[in-house]
Amino acid sequence: MIRRVLPALLLAAAPAVAEDGRAVFEARCASCHAVVAGAPPGAGPNLSGVVGRRVGGDSGFGYSPVLEEARQSGQVWDAALLERFLADPEEMFPGLWMGSNALRAAEERAAVAAFLRAAR
Ligand code: HEC
Repeated sequence: MIRRVLPALLLAAAPAVAEDGRAVFEARCASCHAVVAGAPPGAGPNLSGVVGRRVGGDSGFGYSPVLEEARQSGQVWDAALLERFLADPEEMFPGLWMGSNALRAAEERAAVAAFLRAAR
């Protein structure tokens, strides 16, 4: 039942999903990442406008070699790439400096991606 209802709810309630994403972001990500445009980076880069931005695209942040390389290759974040990244960040970018901050639940990853798509 939940399996059939949940996707329909997620589609019908995209703004609500972004709000759920804000709650997850505040609990799990905000200690290191600002999401306000122009705010200085914290322990991690500013993620305002990250969807549609180059990987490694906060010019005020000093990235690890692996993200610097991804930036130079021209790789760009979209929601799908973000969701895949958040499932296992270090698998996508071995040598990443983000600690173990994966999101295990697919719904949380989708909600955070929706929140970040709206965060500009
Ligand atoms: C302990 C601090 C910390 C936490 C918590 C954290 N991150 Fe990060 N994050 C970083 C650092 C540091 C980097 C840069 C890593 C590098 O240069 O290898 C980063 C990089 C990123 C990037 C790539 C940004 C870019 O400009 O390409 C994304 C996206 C990201 N984090 C999302 C998240 C999300 C979403 C969460 C919450 C689930 C999260 N992070 C939790 C520290 C953190």
